[in-house]
Amino acid sequence: MTLNAGFRGDLEAQIAQLRADRVYKTLNYLDSPQSARVQMDGRGEVLILSSNNYLGLCDEPSVVRAGIEGLERFGAGTGSVRFICGTFTIHRELEAALARFVGTDAAMTFVAAWNANEAMTATVVQEGDVVLSDALNHASIIDSMRLAKAITKCTTGVYKHADMDDLVEKLRAAKGARRRLIWTDGVFSMEGAIAKLPQLLEIARDHDAVLIMDDSHATGVLGATGRGTAEHFGVVGEVDVITSTLGKALGGAAGGFIAGPAALCDMMIQRARPQLFSNALPPTVACSAVAAVEFIEAHPERVTTLRENSAWFRSALREAGLKPLDGETPIVPIIVGETADAIKMSGMLLDEGIFITGFGFPVVPHGTARLRCQVSAAHSRADLEYAVRAIRDVATRVGVVK
Ligand SMILES: Cc1ncc(COP(=O)(O)O)c(C=O)c1O
Repeated sequence: MTLNAGFRGDLEAQIAQLRADRVYKTLNYLDSPQSARVQMDGRGEVLILSSNNYLGLCDEPSVVRAGIEGLERFGAGTGSVRFICGTFTIHRELEAALARFVGTDAAMTFVAAWNANEAMTATVVQEGDVVLSDALNHASIIDSMRLAKAITKCTTGVYKHADMDDLVEKLRAAKGARRRLIWTDGVFSMEGAIAKLPQLLEIARDHDAVLIMDDSHATGVLGATGRGTAEHFGVVGEVDVITSTLGKALGGAAGGFIAGPAALCDMMIQRARPQLFSNALPPTVACSAVAAVEFIEAHPERVTTLRENSAWFRSALREAGLKPLDGETPIVPIIVGETADAIKMSGMLLDEGIFITGFGFPVVPHGTARLRCQVSAAHSRADLEYAVRAIRDVATRVGVVK
């Protein structure tokens, strides 16, 4: 038996091209928990502003302890798929906690928000349905729609980012459809912008459409008590379906969920392929996630600290002559233009002991490459001051600010 040399050669040539184009990504290895500062292999202590650890719960003692106790109580593995070999009581507890937290009747967990989104569209649509997506929605939503279209022959479409007139036009064109569904991110991950939820709700009502919102970057982040985009706008309980992740503010491990009517969650058990053919969330992760939800419910001041840190950081960047995108979320992108510049600046910042990832094409459109800073409640003011100084210094050296 010989390995397929052509296959390997193709891959090696593609990687060589990525290096030649200076868009090759390198992994940075960490040897400590995610926190404001991490131990990076070969670099020592590094300040991190590119993690989704918005509330600093990755190493919160009660969240870690719950995982350890869960491991001892439930063991390491689920053994198989939920309906085949049994569902752990901790999954039921977690799903009740998540539904309570985001304000829906029920919730159903998955091993990742990616899987939750992937499951969502194909499980509920049929031929004759029309599914519309904001142009800047997360890749998992795009793939979910592609998959649903391939499986069910539903019709899919994309409306211009946050353009309510375009959405209405497309809904009007879909008047004869069996059902209309609208997918939106609650917070758009590359921009940090918040969806126009009140308008989306009104439009969905006017056109008899189902609104599905991926709140992955908003759960634990937006609203006075971290309940997400709906709380931010005072419309908790009004969104048909919310999907979100456990892998960001809610402890940052892994896992995702769909929250909505009990019948929707039941349909996921009955029909969702990522639920029927894949193991459940490991019990230790479920235990940590329950502790994370309880922590946020008991400590809304963490959410306040996150909001204050984000506002301070944005205005300090502006005072330093940088141009972060406007916004209210902890996602603070600084547009630098070329992908190679974003990657270069990211490397220069690492030399200063700061980890901020640069994003370029194809993740964002050509010419809009950016340093995406993500603020955490775990950051001290001194951490953020140091970051602003270093970003200004690097941006000046690269010529992004004069
Ligand atoms: C908006 C959005 N949805 C879904 C996901 C996927 O989350 P998970 O890591 O739980 O699969 C992400 C993660 O990047 C995201 O930003």
